[in-house]
Amino acid sequence: PPAVRIKLNNKSVELGTRIKVFGRIHRLRSQKQATFITLRDGYGLLQCVLPAGDLTKTYDALVFAQETSIVLYGELKQLPPGASAPDNRELQVDYYRVLGSAPSDLDAITNKVSRDQDPWDAQMLDNRHLVLRGETASAVMKLREFVELAFIDTYREMHFTKVSPPAMVQTQVEGGSTLFKYDYYGEEAYLTQSSQLYLETVIPSLGDVYCIEKSFRAEKSLTRRHLSEYTHIEGEMDFIEFDDLLEHLEEIISRVVDKVQGNAEVAAYLKLLNPGFEKPSRPFMRMKYEDAIEWLNKQDPPILNEEGNVHSFGDDIAEAAERRMTDIINRPIFLTHFPVEIKAFYMKKDPKDLRVTESVDVLIPGVGEIVGGSMRMEDYDELIAAYKKNGIGPEPYYWYTDQRKFGTTPHGGYGLGLERFLAWMAGQHTVRTTTLYPRFMGRARP
Ligand code: 4AD
Ligand code: MG
Repeated sequence: PPAVRIKLNNKSVELGTRIKVFGRIHRLRSQKQATFITLRDGYGLLQCVLPAGDLTKTYDALVFAQETSIVLYGELKQLPPGASAPDNRELQVDYYRVLGSAPSDLDAITNKVSRDQDPWDAQMLDNRHLVLRGETASAVMKLREFVELAFIDTYREMHFTKVSPPAMVQTQVEGGSTLFKYDYYGEEAYLTQSSQLYLETVIPSLGDVYCIEKSFRAEKSLTRRHLSEYTHIEGEMDFIEFDDLLEHLEEIISRVVDKVQGNAEVAAYLKLLNPGFEKPSRPFMRMKYEDAIEWLNKQDPPILNEEGNVHSFGDDIAEAAERRMTDIINRPIFLTHFPVEIKAFYMKKDPKDLRVTESVDVLIPGVGEIVGGSMRMEDYDELIAAYKKNGIGPEPYYWYTDQRKFGTTPHGGYGLGLERFLAWMAGQHTVRTTTLYPRFMGRARP
């Protein structure tokens, strides 16, 4: 008999012979002549049919609640093309054994969650461990794994070295207001906001470097795109200019999208999650902050700032305005040259216009900012002045400052939020559904 590969249990079996499979009951449909079970494990689905008669007389309907784990024995049949079973195959069950029953009132939640997930619903969040069993959530997690590996592959192709900076730190990177502080053997310490400063310390020895680590932000608002703990993909490049940074970003984003679309299995998850997804065309649009302000004010009616006024130079482009902008323009934008005042202390000033920095945010339709990057201040005295201006005591940063004493270079880098990248690709309303157990203000469980 011909050997075939079944996704469920990830194994080869022979068609027409009696086989044994394991799984959980994903879907259940009882008819007069037969009971249809769609069996699921982490690899795939298999349709299993229990004929009416001796076998069905012996079971208690309650045993077959959704999520019951079970072993089934029977003959595997190939169905005619176009049958509605996964991969057109069906197991004709002659014997079963229940491994773990499930309460039948679970049906309500697992049914609901496998179709639509309401990420704001407290019940859904409390039941995240069950939500994760649904088709949508598991497709997002499969996509997430692939995307993370696609970044790693791309960095390797580009000859970047991966490092693992510490999560427990005594320096801030992105401002004191979002620091998680804790007691470290009697000293004040923080959970890292970004590994950037550490990446900068190893470019002299390792060349271009990257890391994929958790970053932590004590965000005090509940938005679609803010988490307290997120996965931060950060790269740092030595001996570059600002344009090199932009080109690199365009390249790495495009290559990761190509890898996803070029892998049949993952492309199928992507199609299930976001059928309309299209690879962005290159080059990405480039827009200076100053022109963006003008663009916002030119809309009819103008897109206002957080105070309800028209934007003026120096204003933050807040989340709402940013999203309106990306949704109207509807393609990725490199938003560049933000004013010094609204950006982090380490950003290099544009030598042609000292009011602004050589900085970039990558904005994506539906999400807004997915990347923040910049060239770094090279000059020692300038950095000391920047600490002062930002109210940062320079002492704990001595190791960072030293980079400007021991052979400083033009260099730059960026951080990309993996959850935001996935929210874009997978067409998720919020980053909360792109991570296993989302952490945000008021939620650190399950
Ligand atoms: O723009 P940010 O704050 O930049 C940095 O941390 C730089 N030090 C990175 C670097 O240059 N190495 O954060 C970078 C990205 C954002 O564009 C966003 O995608 C993500 O990190 N991010 C968050 N994602 C989820 N929840 C949050 N609270 C996030 N804060 C930032
Ligand atoms: Mg940012």
